[in-house]
Order: sequence, then C-alpha cells, then structure tokens
Amino acid sequence: MKQITPSVTLEFSQKVREHVRQGREIISLGLGEAEVPTPPHIVEAGVKALRDGLTKYSNPQGLPPLRECIARYLKASHGIEAGAEQIIITPGAKNALFLACAALLEPGDEVALLRPCYVSNSPIVHITGSGVKVCDVDMTPGVFDLDREKLSSCLTDRTKLLFINTPHNPTGRMLSDDDILFIAEEMRQHPRLYLLSDEIYESMVVGDTKHRAPASIPGIENRVITVGGFSKAHFMTGWRIGYVHAPATVTRAMLTIHEHINTNTAAFIQQAALAALDGNRDHIGNYVRKLRERKIIYDRLLSRSPYLSGTEYEGGYFTFINISASRMDCDTFAVELLDQKNVAIVPGLAFGNNYPDYCRLSFVNQTDVFEEGMKRILEFMESSAHEKKED
Ligand SMILES: Cc1ncc(COP(=O)(O)O)c(C=O)c1O
Repeated sequence: MKQITPSVTLEFSQKVREHVRQGREIISLGLGEAEVPTPPHIVEAGVKALRDGLTKYSNPQGLPPLRECIARYLKASHGIEAGAEQIIITPGAKNALFLACAALLEPGDEVALLRPCYVSNSPIVHITGSGVKVCDVDMTPGVFDLDREKLSSCLTDRTKLLFINTPHNPTGRMLSDDDILFIAEEMRQHPRLYLLSDEIYESMVVGDTKHRAPASIPGIENRVITVGGFSKAHFMTGWRIGYVHAPATVTRAMLTIHEHINTNTAAFIQQAALAALDGNRDHIGNYVRKLRERKIIYDRLLSRSPYLSGTEYEGGYFTFINISASRMDCDTFAVELLDQKNVAIVPGLAFGNNYPDYCRLSFVNQTDVFEEGMKRILEFMESSAHEKKED
C-alpha cells in the first residue's frame, strides 16, 4: 500500500472547500466537474425510477435496455461493433478502470502509463496488481504529443496493459488517427498486450481533431477495453455511473469481480443514464460551444503573455499550463495563487513526477469566471516573474 497516496485533486478540492467555508470567494479552475446541473429530464427519469420502486438489487451486469442503448451509441458514434452482452454498467468510469486492471493483471506483468495521466491510474494499478511493474512513458515535453519511440521502447513481451486517455486529462490534447494506428501496430507486434482506452471525454471535442475509438480498428478489437461514462458529458459526476465494453472473456472476468465488489450499479441511476443517452442530448453540443468560447479566451490571453504558456486545447475539460517563469514549483505556485489571488488550480506533480513546472487548468467554470481566473493567473505570473528578476 506504500505506493498508494490519496487523490491530490480531491485533497486540493477539500482545501478549497475549507477556504469557501471561511467565507472567501474562490474561483475554482481546479476540479473536473462542470458548473452546470444535471439536465432536468435526466433528474426526472431518476426520480421517476425511484417512485416506480427501482430500489432493489438488479441485474449485476446492468439493465439490458441501458446496455443495448450504449452498444448502439458506440456503434453509431464510434464505429465499435459493440454487443450489449460485452458491456458492464459500473459505479463510475473510475470503477471500470479498476475492474479492468483487477481482471487482467497478474504478478510479473508490466503496465505502460503515458505521463502525465489521470491521478487515479497509477493507484488503481498498484491496488489491483501486486508484483506488477509500471513503465512510465513521458509524452513529448511541452506539446504533450505521443512519443512513439519512447512508447515502443517501453513495451516488452511482459506488458499486459497500455493505458490511453483521449481527449486527455490533464493536457487537453487528443491522440491523432496516426497515433491510434501506431498503437494498433504495436499491439499486433505484442500479442499479449491489451489496450485500456479511457474515453470519458469522447463527446467533449473542442478542436478539429476527430475522436478515434481504438476498438473500431479491425484486428485489435478483441484486445481493446473501452471505458466511458456519464459524469462529464451529462454532468452526472455525483450519480456515479459509467460503463466498460470489452472482449467477452475480459467482460466475464470483470463481471465476477464486479458482482463481489459492487453487486450492481443502482437501477434508478441507470434509468437516469438511459434518459441521458436515449433522450435529448442537446446539452452536450451546448456545452461544447461554451468550451469553444473559453478556448478562444485561453488562446487570446496566452498569446499576449510573455510568461505563461500552455498546451493546445483540443478536448476534454483541461489544459496543462507551464508556470516555470514564476520560478516556483507547482505546489508553491498553486498555494500562493490560492492565497494571494483566490484562484484554485491543481499542481502538475499530481499527474507525474516530471511536471513540477506545470499546473492543470480546468475550463469547466462559467465563461466570465474562467476569464477572470485566467487574468488573475496571468497577473500573478507577471508579478512573480518580475519579483524573481529583481532578486
Ligand atoms: C480521465 C478520467 N477517467 C476517469 C474519470 C472518472 O470518472 P467517473 O466520475 O465516471 O468515475 C475521470 C474523472 O475525472 C477522468 O478525468
């Protein structure tokens, strides 16, 4: 358990809540939770399901109508030949990542993680895979593209699992079509290798790159585990619902673990998720438009600053900003920014050891609040860069 540390992002949000309780007005550009409520038709479906008595144990794998709807969605939106019998409904996408690792990892296996990565990836591997070795593959410094050479040199015949996440938390970058085809080729050369593809931000595409689901690529689909969810696209973070689609053997292994750990995902929440996916989905397009407005603000403010740079925002909820001109490490920077400017962002070290010069910036706050928060970050960068020069 020594390698498992608490979630830095959740700890940081506790700290922010503490400041708010003390009466301070904090601009939160830290968390991955949209500022908008769950759409009313989704809430109503959940309430109706409760009133209809969906309060008991239910099908462990998930309600068939929801699994069928997800299978149709994966096929129509991403070209995945998905079957409802290959899908498990889980209490959140995070839980799906856990089930995949618990089902696949054995002592002696290796896991490749592209860094920086989602804060829970490494802890999940260590919780589920005792005696498993992790190989960190740094993305190209600064731009955070896939470094193909580094990835190739990390993969061995013991590598069981490669994690990918596109659109990406924390950089906002996306894997290109060519990247995905390159990964597919690596999988052909490593027949033991499974791909754990976390696509929770698949509908939050902000730039021109199209989302490509690896499970749609013929020849590797029987080794791709696709994780999706409702937290981000449907603003359902607190409901705790996600899903996983996998080859039949892996689905069976995950289902056994799921039955013992989770029993089932609450049926009334699944009814709400069904309303989200099967009903009116305008809320997604409307929100992507807001994210695009924020991207314009982000690009404009960064282009004017000699001190702050950041990753290209292609999709998802975040970008990674480079704060090295402040000459502070990311932890000091985040604490000072919170104290002096009342703005919360997450230190880059939460996402990998090589990122003390970065912080994660979240785009999921109201556009005027986002703009004000960014302006304060720029002011803070400017004043600290000047102070350091004068030292
Ligand atoms: C990349 C990534 N995967 C998974 C999750 C977990 O999502 P869920 O709320 O569905 O557990 C998150 C949440 O922030 C995330 O950013």
